[in-house]
Amino acid sequence: MWPKRRKENSPSPAVMAAGVGPIIRAMGYSDINECWRLDQRCFSDGEAYDKETFRYLLSHGNSVCYKVVTEAGEMVAFVVGMIEGDGNGHVVALGVRPEDRRRGHGRRLMWSIERGFYERGVRTVRLEVRTSNDTAQKLYFDLGYKIIRRMQRYYTSGDDGYLMIKTVG
Ligand SMILES: CC(C)(COP(=O)(O)OP(=O)(O)OC[C@H]1O[C@@H](n2cnc3c(N)ncnc32)[C@H](O)[C@@H]1OP(=O)(O)O)[C@@H](O)C(=O)NCCC(=O)NCCS
Repeated sequence: MWPKRRKENSPSPAVMAAGVGPIIRAMGYSDINECWRLDQRCFSDGEAYDKETFRYLLSHGNSVCYKVVTEAGEMVAFVVGMIEGDGNGHVVALGVRPEDRRRGHGRRLMWSIERGFYERGVRTVRLEVRTSNDTAQKLYFDLGYKIIRRMQRYYTSGDDGYLMIKTVG
């Protein structure tokens, strides 16, 4: 079963200004530019993806991607995933605009992608996270992900990463 919402964070200022709750939509090829720009802001440490990579990810038939938008359609958060050849779901990128963090968008997007994966037959979801990224790890632990391996020098910066997995459904 899907996890019950244990707590609901408050909407972001941009969303509150629009007078509505967070709006989650599927994300596709037409979102490339906005998603790429937001990714650059979220990963200013040199680990952002280039536009070519987003072009590939967002046009792929096996990708599962969502965004949080304001009523005006402005993107404040995104998640990009791919159903890999082994049938597992892979969360490739998750980012929330710095000024909109800690308002539940990351958690909601992870719920959305897990559900999206599940509806397409995925039962195991995996992701990688920098060993120094305590914030993201806290979110993933909270959602039930477990570390199964430490990957030495996984990132181009030379940082180590953790491989985390979760069974969904
Ligand atoms: C990681 C990230 C996606 C979290 O998004 P978010 O919308 O701020 O997260 P949420 O508001 O949904 O928080 C969910 C939970 O994560 C944890 N968390 C999030 N931000 C945290 C922080 N600054 N400190 C401690 N725990 C934090 C908490 O457990 C939180 O639950 P709580 O608010 O009820 O305590 C966001 O910080 C981000 O975009 N970071 C930069 C990019 C990145 O690191 N992406 C992940 C790469 S693997």
